[in-house]
Amino acid sequence: MTPANQQAAPLLDCLQTLANRQRAAFHTPGHKQGQSAPAPLANLLGTQVFRADLPELPELDNLFAPTGVIQAAQALAAAAFGAEQTWFLANGSTCGIAAAVLATCCPGERLIVPRNAHQSLISALILSGAIPIWVEPDYDPDWQIALCPSPASIQAALAEHPDAKAVLLVSPTYHGICADIASIAQITQQYDIPLLVDEAHGAHLAFHPDLPPSALASGADLAVQSIHKTLSALTQAAMLHVQGNRLDRNRISQALQLVQSTSPSYLLLASLDAARQQMATTGEALLDQTLHLAAQARTQLSQIPGLAVLTTSSQSPTNRYQLDPTRLTIDITGLGLTGFQADEILHQSLNVTAELPGLNTLTFILTPGNTPADIAHLIQACQSLAPTPHPSPPTPHPPPLTPHPPPPTISPRAAFFSPTLVLPTEQAIHQISAELICPYPPGIPVLLPGELITAEAVAYLRQILASGGILSGCADPTLDTLRVIRQTSNDETGKQ
Ligand SMILES: Cc1ncc(COP(=O)(O)O)c(C=O)c1O
Repeated sequence: MTPANQQAAPLLDCLQTLANRQRAAFHTPGHKQGQSAPAPLANLLGTQVFRADLPELPELDNLFAPTGVIQAAQALAAAAFGAEQTWFLANGSTCGIAAAVLATCCPGERLIVPRNAHQSLISALILSGAIPIWVEPDYDPDWQIALCPSPASIQAALAEHPDAKAVLLVSPTYHGICADIASIAQITQQYDIPLLVDEAHGAHLAFHPDLPPSALASGADLAVQSIHKTLSALTQAAMLHVQGNRLDRNRISQALQLVQSTSPSYLLLASLDAARQQMATTGEALLDQTLHLAAQARTQLSQIPGLAVLTTSSQSPTNRYQLDPTRLTIDITGLGLTGFQADEILHQSLNVTAELPGLNTLTFILTPGNTPADIAHLIQACQSLAPTPHPSPPTPHPPPLTPHPPPPTISPRAAFFSPTLVLPTEQAIHQISAELICPYPPGIPVLLPGELITAEAVAYLRQILASGGILSGCADPTLDTLRVIRQTSNDETGKQ
C-alpha cells in the first residue's frame, strides 16, 4: 500500500513553479534561465531545461541544511525506500560511499570490505585514511565472476579484527548477485558496528516483492543507491539512506558537504523527487512489466544455440545467492566470440548496447525504461550475432582463483600522497604498488595502491594476460612496467 502523500513531489513542483516565473535574474547560473544559452546546446536540450536550471533560491531550500522542499522530498524518499533518513546526492553513489566511510572511520581505523569493491570505495579509503581489511568474495569458476563475501568470511574477518569500525558490502554486484545481508547484519549487530551497503545497482529492489529484498529491509544500517542506474533519475542522481542508531547522522551530513559541490544541480535533485514519486505510486506495476520482459528475454536468449544465461539454479556457487532477475548476464563464448567482441558488434552494427562486457560474458541492465521492442531487438541481434555456433571458447580459461591479497605496506591514502616511479616489472617485485590492477575476469583487484608487489601476484597477472584476459587500472596494460612508490631515506613504509 502506498501512502497517499507519495503522490506529492514537493521539490519537483517547486522547481516547476519557479521555472515558469518571469524574473530579472542577477544570480547564477550565467545562462539566466536560458537567455544566453548557446544555441547548439539549446537545440539539443530544449529551452525548459535551462528555465529549470536554478540555484538555491529561497523557495528551493538548501541541500546541506534542508528545512523546506528538499527536507520534505527527502522524508518522502525515506518512507518510500524504507529508511529512517535519506539524503539526496548530486554526485552519484560515489560521494555517498565516500561520506559513509568518512562518517564511520577516522584515519588509521579499520573497515572490512570485499576485495571486489568498486573504485569509489578505493577513493573513499584514500580520502578517509581508513585501513581496508579485505575479504575475498566467493567466486563462480564456471562463469568467472566474483560473487559476494559469505557470512562466514565476514565473521572470520571480525574475529581477527574486532576493532573494525564497520563492514561494507557491495550488493547487488554488477552481475546482479545479492549478498546474504540478513545473516551478515546479524553478525555486525553482535559487534555493534554499522553495516554499510553499496547498493548502487539495487535502487529498484524495494519496489517489488519478487525482487530480492533491499539492503535496508535485510537489516543494513546504511545503503547508498544510484537512483540513476536502475530507476529513472538523471545521471549522477543518487541517495544515501540510514536506519537505526549505529551511525552519527550529523557526521554523515558533514561528510557529504566535503564531497559534493556547493552548487548542486536542481535538475538532478528534482529528478530524485520525481523518480521516488514514480516508484512509490506505480513502481510495482512498472516492475511487473520489467520482470515479465526479463523472464521473456532470459527464455529466448537461452534458446539461442551457443548462448547461456546466468541463473542461480546451476550447480555453481552462484546458487547460494539471490540473483536480481532484471540483470541479464549471458556467456557468449559458445558463439566463438569474446564478450568484448560481441559488445562491439552489437553496439557498432546492431544498435544494441550492453552495460558491461567481460571476457566471456555480456551483462544487460533491464529497467522499467525497457520496452517489448527493446527485448525483441536484443533477441534478434543476439540471434544474428553468430549464425554458426562455435563449439569451444576462444580462449583458455584464466586461473579461477586470485592470489591472496599481498600484505598492505602503507595505506591507500599514504600511497596516494607518495611520489612514484615506473619500473620494469621484474624490478618492481618487492616494491610497493602505486596502482590498482584489476584483471577481467574475475574483476577482483590483485594489487592496490600501498600493497607489496609479490612475484606471485605478477605471475598471476601474466597468466591472465596470456589467457586472453585484460588488466584494468594499470598505466601499462601489457605489464612490462609497473608504477611503484618511490622510497626515500625517510620513507613512509610501515606507516598507515
Ligand atoms: C558497485 C558500484 N558502486 C558504486 C558505483 C558508483 O556509482 P555512481 O556512478 O552513481 O557514482 C558504481 C558505478 O558504476 C558501482 O558499479
